[in-house]
Amino acid sequence: MTASFPALRLRRTRVAPWSRRMVAEHVLTPADLIWPLFIADGTGVEEPIKTLPGVSRWSIDNIAKRAKEAQALGIPCIALFPNTPQHLRTPDGREALNPDNLICRAVKAIKDAAPDVGVLTDVALDPYTEHGHDGLVDAAGYVLNDETMALLVEQAVVQADAGADIIAPSDMMDGRVAAIRAALEEKGHRNVQIMAYAAKYASAFYGPFRDAVGSRGRLKGDKRGYQMDHANAEEALREVAMDLAEGADTVMVKPGLPYLDIIRRVKERFEVPVFAYQVSGEYAMIEAAVAADMGDRDALVLETLLAFKRAGCSGVLTYHAAHAARLLGA
Ligand code: PBG
Repeated sequence: MTASFPALRLRRTRVAPWSRRMVAEHVLTPADLIWPLFIADGTGVEEPIKTLPGVSRWSIDNIAKRAKEAQALGIPCIALFPNTPQHLRTPDGREALNPDNLICRAVKAIKDAAPDVGVLTDVALDPYTEHGHDGLVDAAGYVLNDETMALLVEQAVVQADAGADIIAPSDMMDGRVAAIRAALEEKGHRNVQIMAYAAKYASAFYGPFRDAVGSRGRLKGDKRGYQMDHANAEEALREVAMDLAEGADTVMVKPGLPYLDIIRRVKERFEVPVFAYQVSGEYAMIEAAVAADMGDRDALVLETLLAFKRAGCSGVLTYHAAHAARLLGA
C-alpha cells in the first residue's frame, strides 16, 4: 500500500515570502491612492476633526505642504473639500461660484507648490449651503434637479479655471455630467477630466465627513431623494452607463467596502477605470477598532485597500493614503 498524500498542495507556494510575492495576483502601490484633504480658512491652521481621529483640516499654506508630501510619497492625486466659513453659507450655496473661494485658492496654491500632483475637486453644493443639501431645495424640501445643475456647471468651470485637473460631481443630479462636459469644452478645458461619483449611495458612513465640512448639524432630513438606495445594484449599472454616455472619463463607487460587489459588476460590465471612495465612516471604523485595541492599523489598512484592487479598482480615495504610501515604502 502506498502512503496517501494530497494530489495538490496549494500551501506549497505559500510557504516562503519570496514565493508569496511571486504568485501575488494583485499589488497595491502609492499610485493607487487618492488623498482627500479638508481645507480650513486662515493661515497656519491645523484643526483636528474629532470624528476622524488623525485627520485635520488645514489652511491653504498647510495644504500646500500636504501636496508636497503627496508628491514625495508618490501619491498621484489629492481631492479637496472646503469647510466654508459659516457666514458664507446661503440657501443657494453661491459661495461655490466665487472664483476666490477657499477651494479655488487652495487649488492655485497646490499647483504652485506641487505641480506634479493631480488635483480633484468635488462638485456639489453641500459645503456651501445653509441647509447642507447638495443642491437647491424648494419649499417642500425637494432638491431641484435642473436648477441645481445650472449652478453645478458654473461651479465646475470656476474650479477648472482655478486649475483643477479632475472635476468630480458628487451631487447625483441627473444629467449633470453632460452639462459639465459641454461647459468645460466651451471654456477651453478640453483636458480637464470628469470622475463621476456615478454610483453614490445614501449612506450612514458619511457622518464624519459632514463634521469635517461643517454640514452635519445643518442637514435637514436626509439625501435619499437623490443618492442611491443601498438595496439596489442594477440601478448602479444604469447610473454608470448614463455617466459614461454623458462623457465621464472615470467612474466612482461610494462608499467602498460595503459595495465591493458593485465595483466588480461595474468593472466587468464597462471595462473603464473604476475608483472607490473608502469614506469617512469606514476610516473611522478602522481607527475606532485600533483605539479599542481590536486590530492592527497597518494590517487593516493594507488589507482593505488591496481588496479594492482585487475587486477591480484602478484606485481608491482614502484618508489613510499618506500612511499607506509610507507603509508601501515609497
Ligand atoms: C458631498 C460629498 C460627501 C462625501 C463626499 N462628497 C457627503 C455626502 O454626500 O453627504 C462623503 C465622503 C466621506 O464620507 O468620506 N456631496
